[in-house]
Amino acid sequence: MHRAAFGWAGLRGEYIAERIPAPELPARLAALRRDPAALGANLSLPHKESALPLLDSLSDAARQIGAVNTVVRRGSELHGENTDAPGLLAALLDAGFASLGGPVVVLGAGGAARAAVYTALISLEREVYVVNRSRARAEELAAAWFIPQADVQVRDVQVQAATLAEVPWSQISLIINCTSAGLDDPQGTPLPDFDFRCCPQAGVYDMVYRPAETRLLREARAAGLAAHNGLGMLAHQARLAFQAWTRVDVPAQVFLQALGGAQP
Ligand SMILES: NC(=O)c1ccc[n+]([C@@H]2O[C@H](COP(=O)([O-])OP(=O)(O)OC[C@H]3O[C@@H](n4cnc5c(N)ncnc54)[C@H](OP(=O)(O)O)[C@@H]3O)[C@@H](O)[C@H]2O)c1
Repeated sequence: MHRAAFGWAGLRGEYIAERIPAPELPARLAALRRDPAALGANLSLPHKESALPLLDSLSDAARQIGAVNTVVRRGSELHGENTDAPGLLAALLDAGFASLGGPVVVLGAGGAARAAVYTALISLEREVYVVNRSRARAEELAAAWFIPQADVQVRDVQVQAATLAEVPWSQISLIINCTSAGLDDPQGTPLPDFDFRCCPQAGVYDMVYRPAETRLLREARAAGLAAHNGLGMLAHQARLAFQAWTRVDVPAQVFLQALGGAQP
């Protein structure tokens, strides 16, 4: 995706994948800080959270979400941003899901779920139900948002942990799958034995994009619901990271085409 973006922008640049064992992250970030040719980096699991104290500054979103996926080198300082949350927002806008009123269900309680709660609660100002396999993690995630945030206006909306039975399904406007259930597994789903007819107004956004149609998407579509995979989010988070590094806004379509022209 980033090679295609460099080409589109007419810039000479390289995007290199590196596997960094967890204990080596501080030294790798220190080397990045000293490298005059480096624009920055993306971080993936397990570094998104552990990098926070190793950076010189953080965007408000990265600090509130507690995860950094994009590091920008500014002189000899490293700045941490989270483009997963605005990437998700942009994908929800593309899908027509951002304008649907009503509460949102976030499935999962890992780093991606935290970004989704930020998007639903702060950007869309929706009530959020967090449903996770391990209830304790959902409670922990929800509790973090009850603490008044100094620099965020959480108006009347709130976030709470819930079991499937506790969710007011008929009111739900959006279900966001932030679990890895279904990833590379055509039969995997975070909602086995679920009847989508209980939430006829809901859109379904699955952050998983491999396979392109997960079981969750297949079953939601079979019940007549609009449903999209995570390719749009993947493309938009990359677009926003590229913009943070180069200040060039490359169209999301360039990133999507580089992903093989697959449809979100
Ligand atoms: N489209 C994009 O751009 C994008 C961006 C970020 C992430 N993602 C995707 O989002 C997913 C989650 O990423 P993450 O970083 O949040 O991972 P993570 O921190 O490891 O969290 C994984 C979550 O999935 C749940 N889970 C795993 N297997 C499950 C199963 N079989 N049934 C139900 N729940 C299950 C876990 O529940 P427990 O807490 O009970 O273990 C946990 O809540 C991954 O598939 C990742 O590829 C996509």
